[in-house]
Amino acid sequence: MKTIFITGASTGLGKATALLFHSKGWKVIATMRDVTKGSDLAKLENITVLSLDVTDPAQIGETAAKALTLGAVDVVFNNAGYGLGGPLENLTDSEIVQLFDTNMLGTIRVTKAFVPHFKERRQGLFIAATSMAGLMAVPFNTIYNASKFAIEGWTEGMFYELGLFNIGIKTVAPGIIKSHFGENAIWAVGEEYKEAFDRSMASFDFRSYFSTPEMIADIVYEAATDGKKQLRYVAGEDVNRHFAQYEELGRQGYVDQLATKVIK
Ligand SMILES: NC(=O)c1ccc[n+]([C@@H]2O[C@H](COP(=O)([O-])OP(=O)(O)OC[C@H]3O[C@@H](n4cnc5c(N)ncnc54)[C@H](OP(=O)(O)O)[C@@H]3O)[C@@H](O)[C@H]2O)c1
Repeated sequence: MKTIFITGASTGLGKATALLFHSKGWKVIATMRDVTKGSDLAKLENITVLSLDVTDPAQIGETAAKALTLGAVDVVFNNAGYGLGGPLENLTDSEIVQLFDTNMLGTIRVTKAFVPHFKERRQGLFIAATSMAGLMAVPFNTIYNASKFAIEGWTEGMFYELGLFNIGIKTVAPGIIKSHFGENAIWAVGEEYKEAFDRSMASFDFRSYFSTPEMIADIVYEAATDGKKQLRYVAGEDVNRHFAQYEELGRQGYVDQLATKVIK
């Protein structure tokens, strides 16, 4: 029986991934900040719920060690993350630091905790949830953009390093997922930016073809099981449409076009 270790499994994509892998006969280590949110998962055979805040390095070490006492881990899914939106000058330093601590450093720290185990086994796979906002900038989301771009670039670099030991690393880059992400995101849009922000949001026709957590969990499963050395899985109809346009126009062409809608 294979095992997946998931961060941020209390809700949304993390929870849907836990349930999908469980239904496929995997053992699941579902980690979350508040384990009481995992009481339904904990009732299922072969799902273990463990406490983990990915901004707490000591707890990462303890939880990884605890997970490994239950047996080998095959896949680590770095899913925990949240959104921070608004113009840079409207965000506080602590909001910026906290976002990077979770979305970027959390992923890097949890990966580091499992590298020795995967090296010893000469197998294993890391998958990180990035975002459409990690492939192309979504205006007024710059800190979130930066955190997800960072993980895209870091993953590409780690591909070589981990490849030495037959360890894989991939990203799954979703567009909009109908989850708790919207309500958990922190937004700060000052009056001065409001109109441009609204124009920017209107230029992305996200809402009509968003994904469900279950749809993206299917792609995580594909990434975990297809045996390919594919770096990135662009996940969802919305992001596939936007990213195809981005690639067709090229970075400068896409930015020039979007700028005509946002900058008046
Ligand atoms: N929803 C979207 O539109 C969208 C689009 C692209 C990418 N993504 C990415 O997909 C991933 C999952 O998001 P989602 O849509 O499932 O959102 P969600 O429903 O808000 O779930 C986010 C999860 O991350 C957890 N989390 C936040 N900070 C954490 C921390 N410090 N330590 C451990 N867990 C933490 C949350 O735990 P608590 O229950 O404790 O808050 C929750 O379990 C994120 O990385 C997100 O950036 C989402």
